[in-house]
Amino acid sequence: DDDGEARGSKGKAFSEQESWEDQQIRKSQLEFGAKDRGRAGDEYEFVFDDAVEFVKAAAIAGTELEDQTDELGDEIDAKAMLQRELQDQRKTLPVYKFKDELLKAIAEHQIIIVVGETGSGKTTQIPQYLHEAGYTANGRKIACTQPRRVAAISVAARVAQEMGVKLGHEVGYSIRFEDCTSEKTAVKYMTDGMLLREFLGEPDMASYGVVIVDEAHERSISTDILLGLVKDVARFRPDLKLLISSATLNAEKFSDFFDMAPVFKIPGRRYNVDIHYTVAPEADYVDAAVATVLQLHVTQPPGDILLFLTGQEEIETVEEILRRRTRGLGTKIAELVICPIYANLPTELQTKIFEPAPPDARKVVLATNIAETSLTIDGISYVVDPGFCKVKSYSPRTGTEVLLVQPISKASADQRAGRSGRTGPGKCFRLFTEHSYKEDMTDETVPEIQRSNLASVVLSLKALGINDLVSFDFVDPPASEGLLRALEDLFALGALNSRGELTKTGRRMAELPLDPMLAKAIVASERYGCSEEVLTIASMLSAGNAVFYRPKDRALIADAARQHFNAGSAGDHVALLNVYTEWERSGHSAQWCADHFVQPRTMRRARDVREQLEALLERVEIERRSCSGGDLDAVRKAITAGFFRNTAQRWRDGFYRTLKTWRTVFVHPSSGMARLDPRPRWVVYHELVETSNEYMRQVTELKPEWLLEVAPHYYQENNLDAPEPKKAKAHEQGAAVALEKPSPSLNDFFDV
Ligand code: CDP
Ligand code: MG
Repeated sequence: DDDGEARGSKGKAFSEQESWEDQQIRKSQLEFGAKDRGRAGDEYEFVFDDAVEFVKAAAIAGTELEDQTDELGDEIDAKAMLQRELQDQRKTLPVYKFKDELLKAIAEHQIIIVVGETGSGKTTQIPQYLHEAGYTANGRKIACTQPRRVAAISVAARVAQEMGVKLGHEVGYSIRFEDCTSEKTAVKYMTDGMLLREFLGEPDMASYGVVIVDEAHERSISTDILLGLVKDVARFRPDLKLLISSATLNAEKFSDFFDMAPVFKIPGRRYNVDIHYTVAPEADYVDAAVATVLQLHVTQPPGDILLFLTGQEEIETVEEILRRRTRGLGTKIAELVICPIYANLPTELQTKIFEPAPPDARKVVLATNIAETSLTIDGISYVVDPGFCKVKSYSPRTGTEVLLVQPISKASADQRAGRSGRTGPGKCFRLFTEHSYKEDMTDETVPEIQRSNLASVVLSLKALGINDLVSFDFVDPPASEGLLRALEDLFALGALNSRGELTKTGRRMAELPLDPMLAKAIVASERYGCSEEVLTIASMLSAGNAVFYRPKDRALIADAARQHFNAGSAGDHVALLNVYTEWERSGHSAQWCADHFVQPRTMRRARDVREQLEALLERVEIERRSCSGGDLDAVRKAITAGFFRNTAQRWRDGFYRTLKTWRTVFVHPSSGMARLDPRPRWVVYHELVETSNEYMRQVTELKPEWLLEVAPHYYQENNLDAPEPKKAKAHEQGAAVALEKPSPSLNDFFDV
């Protein structure tokens, strides 16, 4: 059988060769990074020791230097050599052996489910096979969707390199706020959400001849919706080919969904993985994980370690403990190279996890779920799995969406274990008992659609003309409670009329790739003559939470710098506006960022987002107008028009409680309002962050009469009279509990 063959000498030789080549490529990538120095514009200046390195790096840079290569004459050979190497490498991937069979199956069937281990070449190879086989000859593109942005970019870059073309030409990618494609693009990697957006403008998907819904096992909301939509399109477009690709073997569900579509299995190159469980449950999985990693390092033969953690904060903690504890190990023990990876890690540092550890050293990768199927890291022999991950969960009752650390599913645990057996036999250390694997863990992760706020999904579906949501063909339907809640929200926002039909406001909101509340704020800004300002605020809010940074040794100076943007205490939204405006005025200066403890990366992203939103504003015909710094009430009113559900009132006992629902909430310590005394009586906030308490992030003062003006369907006069605490038990308890909790310091929250 194929597995046996792969485990034999041939497979091994291949895998060794592969990792050597990977090493070479990564080395040159490293050098490319070290030696490129930006000139004016985006041209690169290269100083290379030898031409081979030059050409390799050029290939990695997406062959940006094609023209210059010609001048180098002989070195074209080196480029050809790299291409040959890459082509050889492609042939070692498990999917290669099945290329003809797969193409034959695709020719014969309209819809196919493709299943194969992570790393077998599904994502990078299948679109190329289809392109080579002429599926794009008629001018139609191949779409390949990814649930993660990072994956879409990195895979597109890899495929462009394999095809020897510049990224954005024949091969490109498209993610929210960033389109790297051109007229020429035949193979288009994109986030599932982007294809969904394109659907709004092109309901028959006429630009595409093939749609590959990749990583379908992740079951992101957008993927789930896409599955329902493409199933429908396939019915009236017999020429459209549909591939659903998944890493886990239980693909029957997809096959059933697509009327018993055939399943094409790519036998993986998977080695034996020994699974070890703890004898008793671990009280503290972080402690246990650190101990396990150190023990493996000291006792086990060479091979890298992959440790799964739940988030950035936890990864940083473990990184620090490991550094401290390995410092004292002395010179007899090999070095332990610690490599963190999570979505927010700057791209420069992300590539570090792919670099092989120096000889005699061992690498330990501290990763979030991103390493479960989206990223393949070579050389991992040991996996340490505490059995937890952070998942988004939504409560339709309270309308809050929170990230909670929860036990993973059996399917996830098995995927994680498999990461150790990719290039040789592996070991997986599960920090939970065998009993809890068998009895406590669910088989599958609950699909995102069943644990999320559906307002944005429902809005998109309505914009697609799908009015009857109950009979939409979902792989797993969302809870009707969640759907109802979403309909109510959209009605309150004025996006739907009382018959549940899309209004003009709703149509405009659907065009903006933003949360419906933020989209509504932008649409409302037209009425208040401040679309420029609200656009900036929306861009800043979409660019991420890491606007400021706060070095521990200069915390006070950093705080003072932040406070500067809060002048006039108009609120955090206006503070974000001030940051952006001043940054623009400084000519996007890096020095300005450094002086004000502002993250330049976030600012650049905000600028990109803003440019995209400007274009969309034109499309929905919202006039760009500025209230010219004068009328901040206009800005705050527009924000309130979107976020009127997120409002709180300060009661006489000093605590904020949400309007209508009366939940005790606190001002996030990173807010400019946190230090204000007295604090405003009425506030609107961007979101709630739930830790030990619920914290309002991005807080702005409002006037209660605005609520009646912007949300007459939602608020009546009597909603604005708070039931003042008449020593009612529940309230008092709530307040007492809140007081007992240790008040968090700013550091607990920074950059979460
Ligand atoms: O989609 P699937 O998990 O089946 O595999 P893939 O993403 O097509 O990856 C196949 C191989 O391409 C991996 O084993 C990596 O060696 C290589 N690859 C890479 O070097 N860089 C990337 N960004 C993606 C893949
Ligand atoms: Mg893949």
